[in-house]
Amino acid sequence: MRILAIETSCDETAITIVEASGDTSGATYMVLGDALYSQAHLHAEYGGVFPTLAKREHIKNLPLLLEQALKEAGEGSVDLIAVTAGPGLEPALWTGIEFATEVSKKWGVPAVGINHMEGHIVSALMRGDGTKYEIVGPELPLLALLISGGHTELVLMRDWFEYELIGRTKDDAVGEAFDKVARMLDLPYPGGSKVAALASERRATGASTSFTFPRPMIHDDTCDFSFSGLKTAVMYKLKAMPELTDDTRAEVAHAFEDATRDVLVEKTRRALEASGAETLAVGGGVSANSAIRKGLEELVRDTFPNVTLAYPNKFLTGDNAIMIAAAAHLRHAAGRITQEPLVARGSQSLSAKQR
Ligand code: KG4
Ligand code: ZN
Repeated sequence: MRILAIETSCDETAITIVEASGDTSGATYMVLGDALYSQAHLHAEYGGVFPTLAKREHIKNLPLLLEQALKEAGEGSVDLIAVTAGPGLEPALWTGIEFATEVSKKWGVPAVGINHMEGHIVSALMRGDGTKYEIVGPELPLLALLISGGHTELVLMRDWFEYELIGRTKDDAVGEAFDKVARMLDLPYPGGSKVAALASERRATGASTSFTFPRPMIHDDTCDFSFSGLKTAVMYKLKAMPELTDDTRAEVAHAFEDATRDVLVEKTRRALEASGAETLAVGGGVSANSAIRKGLEELVRDTFPNVTLAYPNKFLTGDNAIMIAAAAHLRHAAGRITQEPLVARGSQSLSAKQR
């Protein structure tokens, strides 16, 4: 079946057209047309995503991206339209939903809402090269570590599309903490990947760090997270430094990344132990982080050798419409699409009933 997918939950506008086949036991996706526009550079001067600007840009770019994706995809009618319905910035989500509704009416094709975090889980399972992807049915239960700019959570999927929240952040999301530390280091938004780059360059030199930042909640008895104290500790450390040299910047990035990695790895260890999950799927923008990936790889190799670790390839770590198309296809194939009016739900959770 041919699916048109639309993603506008934050500051990426994305439209994709895929030819999908198979089901949750194994699926294939041919990317026929894919158009993505990142607004990040426009939000940089505000130091974060500015919702009104995001909305205006989505509205402006959606028709252009659709035209581009359709041109790439060539002849052939679409069977289903999938659009991110939440979680995300509500004004931004609405632009995608209104556009999907309009196209759905014009083409006489049904439009369905998809949960953005479900998209990130599915993205971890997709193997491919940007034009063709495959999913090999993962062993269940699957534990998802979802780490993005808005979310940090551990979610257990015992059966497809049945989610149980095992742990979540009590305050900042890990991506948000990376972005805030980036600002403290005078790195432009979105700074997460820039902090990571500084940290890995420094780590590659073999340098150690004498800064010891806290690992909030690492010893507590839950799978919940907290990153706000770590962010504040970085702020105090920087205030105490006479000047912000390149060396200090790199060392702060290194020590901060070590602290986040340790917390993520320890909480994932706890959740794997408690759940007996067979697959660990890591999704969301922060899943691009190589130190965190390495920490999770070591955890699985040393402590859970029977667990399969899955994370997205580099094309799919950030927000994209391909993961939304794949999630819609898997739901459709499993008869799990609910035909309800499309509504943006800014804080839609995975573990609540999918609406
Ligand atoms: O999933 P995503 O693209 O958007 C949301 O759904 O939030 O995640 C974006 C987040 C941002 O906070 C960004 O700074 C962070 O992912 N990020 C990273 C890296 N690449 C992106 N954080 C740490 N290390 C990276 N390499
Ligand atoms: Zn995301």
